[in-house]
Amino acid sequence: MRNDITFPSLFLFFPAMATSKLQFYIAVYFWILLPFTTSTNKSLKQFTYNGFQQAKLHFDGGATIHKNGLLQLTNTSKQIKAHAFDPIPLEFSSPSSLSFSTTFAFAMYPEIQAVSGHGIVFVLAPTMKFSLATAGQYYGLFNASTIGNSSNHVFAVELDTLQNLEFEDIDSNHVGIDLDNLRSIKSVSAAYFSDSEKRNKSLNLISAKPMQIWIDYDDIAMEVTVTLAPLSLPRPSKPLLSSRVNLSKVVLDNMYVGLASSTGPSASSHYVLGWSFSQGRKIQAQALDLSKLPSLPRFGNKKRKLNTISIIMVILTSAMLIAIGLGFYLRWKKKFEEFLEDWEQEYILQRFSYKHLYKATKGFKDKEILGVGGFGKVYKGKLPSTKVEVVVKRVSHSSGQGMKEFVAEIVCMARLRHRNLVQLLGYCRRKSELFLVYDYMPNGSLDKHLYVDETTTNLSWSDRFKIIKDVASALVYLHEEWEQVVVHRDVKPSNILLDAEMSARLGDFGLARLYDHGSNPQTTNVVGTVGYLAPELIRRGKASAITDVYSFGVTVLEVACGRSPVSIDNNGREWNLIDFVYDCWMKGVIVEASDSRLRGNYVMDKMELVLKLGMVCCHPRPEARPTMKQVMHFLDEDVTLPQMIPYGNSKSEFSSSVDYTLPSFPPSSGDISTSYSSDSVLVFGR
Ligand SMILES: *[C@@H]1O[C@H](CO)[C@@H](O)[C@H](O)[C@H]1NC(C)=O
Ligand SMILES: *[C@@H]1O[C@H](CO)[C@@H](O)[C@H](O)[C@H]1NC(C)=O
Ligand SMILES: *[C@@H]1O[C@H](CO)[C@@H](O)[C@H](O)[C@H]1NC(C)=O
Ligand SMILES: *[C@@H]1O[C@H](CO)[C@@H](O)[C@H](O)[C@H]1NC(C)=O
Ligand SMILES: *[C@@H]1O[C@H](CO)[C@@H](O)[C@H](O)[C@H]1NC(C)=O
Ligand SMILES: *[C@@H]1O[C@H](CO)[C@@H](O)[C@H](O)[C@H]1NC(C)=O
Ligand SMILES: *[C@@H]1O[C@H](CO)[C@@H](O)[C@H](O)[C@H]1NC(C)=O
Repeated sequence: MRNDITFPSLFLFFPAMATSKLQFYIAVYFWILLPFTTSTNKSLKQFTYNGFQQAKLHFDGGATIHKNGLLQLTNTSKQIKAHAFDPIPLEFSSPSSLSFSTTFAFAMYPEIQAVSGHGIVFVLAPTMKFSLATAGQYYGLFNASTIGNSSNHVFAVELDTLQNLEFEDIDSNHVGIDLDNLRSIKSVSAAYFSDSEKRNKSLNLISAKPMQIWIDYDDIAMEVTVTLAPLSLPRPSKPLLSSRVNLSKVVLDNMYVGLASSTGPSASSHYVLGWSFSQGRKIQAQALDLSKLPSLPRFGNKKRKLNTISIIMVILTSAMLIAIGLGFYLRWKKKFEEFLEDWEQEYILQRFSYKHLYKATKGFKDKEILGVGGFGKVYKGKLPSTKVEVVVKRVSHSSGQGMKEFVAEIVCMARLRHRNLVQLLGYCRRKSELFLVYDYMPNGSLDKHLYVDETTTNLSWSDRFKIIKDVASALVYLHEEWEQVVVHRDVKPSNILLDAEMSARLGDFGLARLYDHGSNPQTTNVVGTVGYLAPELIRRGKASAITDVYSFGVTVLEVACGRSPVSIDNNGREWNLIDFVYDCWMKGVIVEASDSRLRGNYVMDKMELVLKLGMVCCHPRPEARPTMKQVMHFLDEDVTLPQMIPYGNSKSEFSSSVDYTLPSFPPSSGDISTSYSSDSVLVFGR
């Protein structure tokens, strides 16, 4: 085996030792032709780079080698230039050495679709130093003063992606042959001849798709041919562009071969995947090994995919956000949803927005509850806009028929103005809730002041007398001075509120009407509070001004006596205030009924007047009761209360337990001051 190896080498060195004709010819070739070819090869340049990891090239400007061997000439930065030169110059010493063949694979990624940098140029130049050359349309090879000067000695083939009118470019996607200038001697739109389809197919250089270009110069024909094709296709049989060029007129003896690229105000990333070059007549550049070429960054695709993904993400996120926002908005809207019907438009001035009330009461917090009444909870609040302190009564109701009338009444109430009325400011309505907004009374209700302590009281007689007069004044206004008769229906100390000056104000007027409007249809229509209800109201259920007088009478007795109208005594028996006062009256000392906590600190006459007046107002027969206006006159002492004698002692029933002699009041109107003489004594109930 060893001989098999050594023997042929021996005959190569000693042709005489050739054992056959073939060996002899081989030996002769080895001695005569081989030295010639090798010596020629020595001066002829040849290189092939399938990827540029080990490339012995000179790079400058933006040129970089990626890890996978991909050569990037420019990135998307503006106004940059890039060069990749073989550092050993070509020797173009003889015309026969002028022939060359080169091919490279490239891809151009525009920064934005259809707007790109300038392109890539294959170049033969006498130098590698282009520091003074300009980027942009000069490709980093020329500048404004050197362009077109034949002393440049530059041969170039441009892959131009911008139409520069200065250089008479045909379009923004062309291939051209340049000599010392970028005004091409010949150029053509980028295309390739499809051998399968037998026709030219255009190519878009800045499509970010890899392509391959072949440039060949034949020194005999003095012709440059340029061929272009997508990288996936073999070299087309027909070139894209060919031109007669006397290269010896252009080039110098030593020329550098390279690639140049630049960006201008717009930019593209220019990539070169592989490059092969061969010098010499009838020699083709070694074909690129496509399998070894580095892969292109999936930059464009990735970016586009990323874009679609991010666009989808953005759409999804915004859709989600919108949905969430809408959800919150709807919840928010529902939270503050109100009932507003067309007919309410005329009451809009008296209408509060639920949102306002919600804010005013801090979301109807339990902490803000002032009390719980028969109609619902009562909240303290502060209106967000005006900072006015208010009371909000939250009443549940079924928004059935009669609501319209009721709201009309409320609005009507809101128009009532009297210094002894708690001002109703307005209302608000939701699905099953009604809100009434009143002025806030800082000193609370009268009953609290009356019953705060069993042994002492801070309500002096004069306070009490004033309170009685205030309430009477409010009722006169409701019954007689307003354009229509307003029946309060629930006069009692807990509905009398004290303002900052300790003036009494009647509150809750008209609210009792709620019961008439379907709040609780099962109950009978008796409205009011036990102990304050006139007997005929219990029997017939019909409230009137005169039933208000009865309630007022009970309230007057309560204020004077400091005791509730009905209670259970220590022996478990029912105790009745009216009976108690009646008994005192029967004994002839009606003032004994007065509040013991006052310790006699009262005006005797006035106490007597008040107690008797209270009793008259509580007369079981409605027609025997005075009107509120008459009550007012008695209190003002414009008219003295007539001499009254209680009579009878049947106390079996509340409604018939009292009866007493009383002057009859004149029918309805008339001069009160003359109608009652202090002496006239009449028996009730004619
Ligand atoms: C482009 O390349 C230049 C030079 O290498 C570098 O300074 C610049 O940051 C790069 N720009 C981008 C957008 O990558
Ligand atoms: C153009 O380039 C030449 C040589 O490359 C240099 O001498 C000249 O100063 C440059 N001109 C400008 C305007 O940069
Ligand atoms: C061409 O360049 C040479 C050398 O740089 C210079 O001497 C000559 O004046 C230039 N010619 C023109 C027309 O600019
Ligand atoms: C293809 O293009 C070349 C160069 O532009 C042209 O000479 C040739 O006639 C075209 N061939 C066809 C089939 O269009
Ligand atoms: C090519 O150019 C060289 C140098 O200028 C010249 O000597 C030669 O005659 C030219 N050849 C042709 C065919 O024009
Ligand atoms: C009465 O008023 C005084 C001071 O004004 C106060 O300290 C006291 O607690 C009050 N008493 C009652 C029973 O309200
Ligand atoms: C009534 O309210 C005023 C103001 O808030 C306060 O100064 C006064 O002490 C209160 N009076 C009573 C008896 O609570």
